[in-house]
Formats: sequence, structure tokens, C-alpha cells
Amino acid sequence: MFSFTSALLLASACGSALASPAPLPTDIVGKLRDAPTAVDRINLLPDDSQFIFDFFNPAAKAAAGKGGKIVTANAATFPAVVGNGGAMAVGFLDACSMNTPHTHPRATEIQFSVNGTIRTGMITENGARFIMTEIPAGSMTIFPMGSVHFQINEGCEPAMFVAGFNSEDPGVLQIAQRFLGLSPDIVAATLGDIGVEEVMGLDAIIPDSIALGTDECLKRCGITRTSQPTLQRQPRVSGNAFPTGVTASAWPTHSATYTTKH
Ligand SMILES: *[C@@H]1O[C@H](CO)[C@@H](O)[C@H](O)[C@H]1NC(C)=O
Repeated sequence: MFSFTSALLLASACGSALASPAPLPTDIVGKLRDAPTAVDRINLLPDDSQFIFDFFNPAAKAAAGKGGKIVTANAATFPAVVGNGGAMAVGFLDACSMNTPHTHPRATEIQFSVNGTIRTGMITENGARFIMTEIPAGSMTIFPMGSVHFQINEGCEPAMFVAGFNSEDPGVLQIAQRFLGLSPDIVAATLGDIGVEEVMGLDAIIPDSIALGTDECLKRCGITRTSQPTLQRQPRVSGNAFPTGVTASAWPTHSATYTTKH
């Protein structure tokens, strides 16, 4: 995801090029966090436009993949939330695209579908059943803090959702990228001792979120699956490095024979 410093740098770099909010001083979040009272925080944001966040034209770069993007207004991108315990994100899901399975480490999410039906699924913890929903425009669902969940647009038109969080820094942890980014021998053993080559092969193909969705949807909507960026993979450091001399196994990137409908 987007780092706090780069968000601010980008915000100040792009501020003059955009119609919306005046560039914020780069140390504003620190000052807001240090302010003794909420009134002091208001005074640190003298321009009323600092209370507006434009999801259609954000200053900071969105988290994006081949299938769309998520724009987040949090402490880094919208400092007016600092001290107020809330944040919001808007998901722009292209036809047949998915916000891949993830958790929010510090917030419960409530998600409202704006103009399309979004299928969601979640597992809240060990022992809890899988819960799946179809959220039509005008309805909402909830993802408790820490739950593994996904959102998929299975329509042939783009769909938008709004997500509210009870933290100004909800955070996000994408399951596939983070799990495959643990030590390769541990991942291999966790998966029933597949080879480290297979772990390497899987790691290499995890698409960035928002990713393309199911083969069934793409076929129904006449969309061709093309290659996807894989930049959200876990960086390799010494502890999770692949052993030298190992070559990634090739995994099929999609199933050409999808027949069953869910
Ligand atoms: C929903 O709204 C978004 C943003 O305005 C738009 O791109 C999309 O086409 C809309 N989808 C539908 C089904 O109206």
C-alpha cells in the first residue's frame, strides 16, 4: 500500500495541478496528532477545503490493479480524520473484477453498494462459517475487524462501493501476497509440503488488487483475460528469500475449461 510519506509528498506535488484542496503542509499529521484538543486540530486546518476529499480526483495515488482501484481517505491522505477515529474508501470495480481477499488489521468495515451488485465473502475467524452475500445498490454489509473478506463485481458494467472504517488508519493486508511472502519453506510446509519451486511460481503470478475476477464472468461479459501487474507481492529480504538455484514452477494463469456456475 501507499506509504505515509509518499502520500504526503505526492499530495504536495500534485496539489497545485488539481482544482481541489490546497496543498497541506507536509508536517500536518504530526501537528494534528500533537494537538492538545479537537479545537486545536480544527485551527490547524484553516481552509474549509481541507474538509473535502474528492474520491473522483484524489491527490494521492490509488491502490490499483488491472480490474480497477480503491481510493482511500485516511490519516495520510485526508488529515481532517486525525483524532476522529474514522476513514472511508471508495472502490471502483470494473466489470468482472475483484478486490482480492484481505483483512483490515485495525478496523471493522461497513460496505455500501452504490450502483451495482457486489458479491462479498468473509470468514471472521477459526470456527466461524463462511458467509457470502450479494449486496445490491442501496444495501450494505459488514466485515468485522480482522475478518478475511473479498468483494467482486460479477456484472458486465463497472460498479462502485463505499466503505466506512472505524479507524483513521484501518490498514489493509492482502492475504495471498502476504501469505506467499512468508519464508518459502514455511509456505511449502503449510500447504502440505509442495515444493519451494511451486511457492516461487505462485508468488510470481499473484495479481495486484483490484484484479480480474472469475473466468465465468469474463466469458459472459466478453472480456479477454490479459496479463496483470504483480507489484503488490511481499518484498524479499533475507528471512523470506528463495534459496539460490531454485527456478519457479510455471502455474497455469487461468482455467480454460470453466463450466460450473456458482
Ligand atoms: C457506477 O458509478 C461509476 C462512477 O460514476 C461509473 O463509472 C459506473 O459506470 C457506474 N455503474 C453503473 C452500473 O451505473
